[in-house]
Amino acid sequence: MADKVALVTGCSTGVGLYTAVRLAEAGYTVVATMRDPAKQQGLFDEAAKAGVSIEVAPLDVCSQASIDAAVEGVMARHGRIDLLVNNAGAGFLGSVEQTGDDDLRRTMETNFFGVWNMTKAVLPHMRTAGSGRIISVTSVGGLLGQPFNEAYCAAKFAVEGMMEGLAPLARQFGVDICLVEPGPINTEFVASVRATSQASIAAMSEPYGTLAQRYIGASGDVFATYGQTGDDIAKIIAALASTEKPDFRTITSDFAMATVASKVVDRTGNSVVEIFAKRLQG
Ligand SMILES: NC(=O)c1ccc[n+]([C@@H]2O[C@H](COP(=O)([O-])OP(=O)(O)OC[C@H]3O[C@@H](n4cnc5c(N)ncnc54)[C@H](OP(=O)(O)O)[C@@H]3O)[C@@H](O)[C@H]2O)c1
Repeated sequence: MADKVALVTGCSTGVGLYTAVRLAEAGYTVVATMRDPAKQQGLFDEAAKAGVSIEVAPLDVCSQASIDAAVEGVMARHGRIDLLVNNAGAGFLGSVEQTGDDDLRRTMETNFFGVWNMTKAVLPHMRTAGSGRIISVTSVGGLLGQPFNEAYCAAKFAVEGMMEGLAPLARQFGVDICLVEPGPINTEFVASVRATSQASIAAMSEPYGTLAQRYIGASGDVFATYGQTGDDIAKIIAALASTEKPDFRTITSDFAMATVASKVVDRTGNSVVEIFAKRLQG
């Protein structure tokens, strides 16, 4: 039988780059996709270190034409998609008052509509085959709202709701739906967030400016102390891909688990508000 085929989104850096390599090591034929294939060198360098080869294809998850072309291309070249990893994502820093309509829509387009449209494009092929797995990288921010991340968390919450609804249905035709929920990961993510949020950061006059500085400072400590690497998350995704009966939800670290636990055990919801209020108090 031909190798299983995996399609991964957002492979230019971070989690997606390492996921493509770890899946290729596990024996998958990997189609690693990225908005700009000119960024493929880092991926090829890691693939060479691991002694695997990876196919790169262009894919912007915010463009339906791009999604259709990528999925049709994989089906034409390989005839199957066994695994979709919805990894592409982008944060945005700004509270409700600093988030412009364009920022909100871009954040929702990338993190939610992108996942929805990718899943919708791939699912019919898996349903027809009677098997497949869709792993989506959400975040602790898909379970807990966090200040200055309202748009990002709203998008990740939306993915959680979508996938929780789809999971029991997809199981009826042999397709597993899985969520991977990391806490902090030390990738390009934070630098990208800052680059795309310059206008909102500049708009943070008082009372937000001081609160944002405190929050960013406390969050920086959390990344330094508890941050995982992109490769840590990639190994978790590769293990999930090959597990016979995968869990619906994988929270990727003890730190992330401890943070999320407060939501599950405290039915008032007050503990979650307290966690992040402390980061604003300095
Ligand atoms: N880093 C964290 O602390 C953290 C924590 C929890 C969850 N996550 C989630 O983990 C996933 C991977 O993030 P990361 O940490 O690896 O960050 P990253 O290094 O910034 O990687 C994000 C990837 O998504 C791609 N991307 C952004 N917009 C895209 C679009 N419209 N179409 C296709 N690709 C697009 C980026 O490509 P370009 O190079 O073209 O921008 C990049 O390859 C994301 O879903 C993120 O939300 C991250």
